[in-house]
Amino acid sequence: MSNNILGSVLSQGRKADEVLIVSTIEKAGTLKKGTIIAHDTLNEVILLQVTHKITWSDLSEQDLFLMNENEELAYKIIQKSPKSYILHSIIVGAIRDEGEGPAIFGGTTSFIADKTPEVRLLKPSEVKMIYDKGTLEVGRTVDGHKVTLPINGLIQRHLSIIGMTGSGKSYLLGLLCEELALHKAAILIIDPHNEYIPMAQTLPREVGKMLYSIGSAVGLNTYTLDVQKLSAFDFQHFTGMGIGSTAIVERIIQNLKETKSQYSIQDILQHLDSQARKGSPSEKAAATWARNYIQTLTNTGMLGTSEPPMREMVNANQTTVVAMSGVKERIQQFIVTSILQRIFNARRRKEISPLILVIEEAHRFAPSAEKVSSSAIMRTLAAEGRKFGICLVVVSQRPNRLDSTVLSQCVTNIVMKVKNPSDLESIKNSAENVTDDILNELPRFERGEALIMGEAFPISIRYKTRSDRKTKHGGKNVNFVSEWQKHNQEKNVKKFNFPTEI
Ligand SMILES: Nc1ncnc2c1ncn2[C@@H]1O[C@H](COP(=O)(O)OP(=O)(O)OP(=O)(O)O)[C@@H](O)[C@H]1O
Ligand SMILES: [Mg+2]
Repeated sequence: MSNNILGSVLSQGRKADEVLIVSTIEKAGTLKKGTIIAHDTLNEVILLQVTHKITWSDLSEQDLFLMNENEELAYKIIQKSPKSYILHSIIVGAIRDEGEGPAIFGGTTSFIADKTPEVRLLKPSEVKMIYDKGTLEVGRTVDGHKVTLPINGLIQRHLSIIGMTGSGKSYLLGLLCEELALHKAAILIIDPHNEYIPMAQTLPREVGKMLYSIGSAVGLNTYTLDVQKLSAFDFQHFTGMGIGSTAIVERIIQNLKETKSQYSIQDILQHLDSQARKGSPSEKAAATWARNYIQTLTNTGMLGTSEPPMREMVNANQTTVVAMSGVKERIQQFIVTSILQRIFNARRRKEISPLILVIEEAHRFAPSAEKVSSSAIMRTLAAEGRKFGICLVVVSQRPNRLDSTVLSQCVTNIVMKVKNPSDLESIKNSAENVTDDILNELPRFERGEALIMGEAFPISIRYKTRSDRKTKHGGKNVNFVSEWQKHNQEKNVKKFNFPTEI
């Protein structure tokens, strides 16, 4: 036990949760920033996280001032061993038994009352309580502890994954999908950049895969909208056509509804064709415009007479990706609205299994600054989805641009590198147990590094995502130099018809 002792408390710092510890090079030389250490009191184990460490020669006047309470002791220790280390730490929580066995409590209410109390490294049982919380292994802490998450604890509530571009969100999400697929999870991913197709395609053979694209794409199923559910205003919304054109389409749709039990986009186009040949010049022009707009929309292949059935889209042991790259943002929002509403209704009627619903680029579908067609259903799912077995996973580069109602319903937050001050502010507002010290670290996070915070994590955990994902990641960084060479070769081959080895 005694070789577990790291040092002694010098004083509490400026803030109540700040603690300065004196240690030695032998004990603290290899200790990493972010390591959690412990101090035993009569009733509990106070947990302290090392925020930085300095040698005696690095001490500033301010540090000396902070030591004022125990200045005499500090000098005594340091004179004895000028190579002492001073560790700055913050109290992040405590382990205590409130009648149901030892448990972790977050927060900074504890105070170190003893004089010159000892601080020690964590015992293996404490390490397990803090980091090894389940079966889903995501990575390791800076000091090498394995970090595992409890599957139910993670998905019974909504989850957000936040971080700037390239911070490692999609890689991590692919890793989570891979692990969850082993548990026969039903997963549906809204994928605005077609990043997740390679991941789904390389999941183990026994996992079901349904891959949709909006409009026709080779090898993928087509997600079509049911034309009969679209109003003239929906067409206007998609295409931006004018009021005159919209009025004509409205009349045509009304007429088709009254005269036919079923109609397709071809029926609408035919009516527009004949309208374009009669009436006043302005009516003819409006009908021609409408025809051209709707023909362009039809060419995308996204208009049909039915939507894919929900029972095909959501199933246990199935990962479904709806890839939407190349589709206008407002159309993406409309399609997401349609899918989310249908999922919500199907889950309310228990027609499909509970599912994990991943929304990439969530700020696009529930922006903070304006209302878009998908805003309402995103809010409804955030507020009520959990009760109906829908775990919402929102992924965003810009939490500040994401609707705050949606973000605040995500009780577990995985935050990766974030630099933008307004984004840091919204993380502070929406997340629990987040201290300024942690926020200050976020801009310096490495790729793959993440902080897990939330209800199931009384003490937030900082770790580095593992790099051994088995599935293929689709959001790879572009290797500019090799891409230029490849394109240049292709260009030369075309232009001069050189043999390909050139
Ligand atoms: N834990 C990891 N181990 C190895 N490589 C990683 C890890 N995390 C991310 N990467 C790599 O870093 C790059 C960026 O990661 P990723 O695509 O996950 O970023 P992102 O946060 O989703 O960015 P964006 O918001 O632009 O989509 C990718 O090439 C990915 O392979
Ligand atoms: Mg990504």
